[in-house]
Amino acid sequence: PFDPATAREVIDGLKHLPGATLPILHALQDRFGYVDPAAVPLIADALNLSRAEIHGVIGFYHEFRGKPAGAHVIQLCRAEACQSMGCRDLQRHAEERLGVAMGGTRADGAATLDAVYCLGNCALSPAVMIDGTLHGRVDAARFDALVAELPA
Ligand code: FES
Repeated sequence: PFDPATAREVIDGLKHLPGATLPILHALQDRFGYVDPAAVPLIADALNLSRAEIHGVIGFYHEFRGKPAGAHVIQLCRAEACQSMGCRDLQRHAEERLGVAMGGTRADGAATLDAVYCLGNCALSPAVMIDGTLHGRVDAARFDALVAELPA
């Protein structure tokens, strides 16, 4: 869980870096799994920036989440190569199968579905990353099989 004292330590350890906002956000997300809104004023104070500026950076980069992720994080690539191989259909299928819209976390906390923009696996598109493991040539049937294998 988020804890302001730890967040402050993380921020203090990185605030001297040039362009410290991104490294700090990454470090907070690594530490807590998301960037808690309560961290925003801490970052703003440490860097002498406005809260709006920090929110702007968080909003600009897709990879930062503002709430804890689900137990499993399923990332679908939506970049060009994967689009040409049907990732839109796969997205529709995944949303239906998981019962959550892209960018969301299921109400029971079981899974988060996120968009990513190129997983570096274009030759094997459509590509999907599940809990940090990359999978290629994922069609609906393979998606179902991968999801079925996840521990509850
Ligand atoms: Fe999807 Fe590169 S475009 S992995």
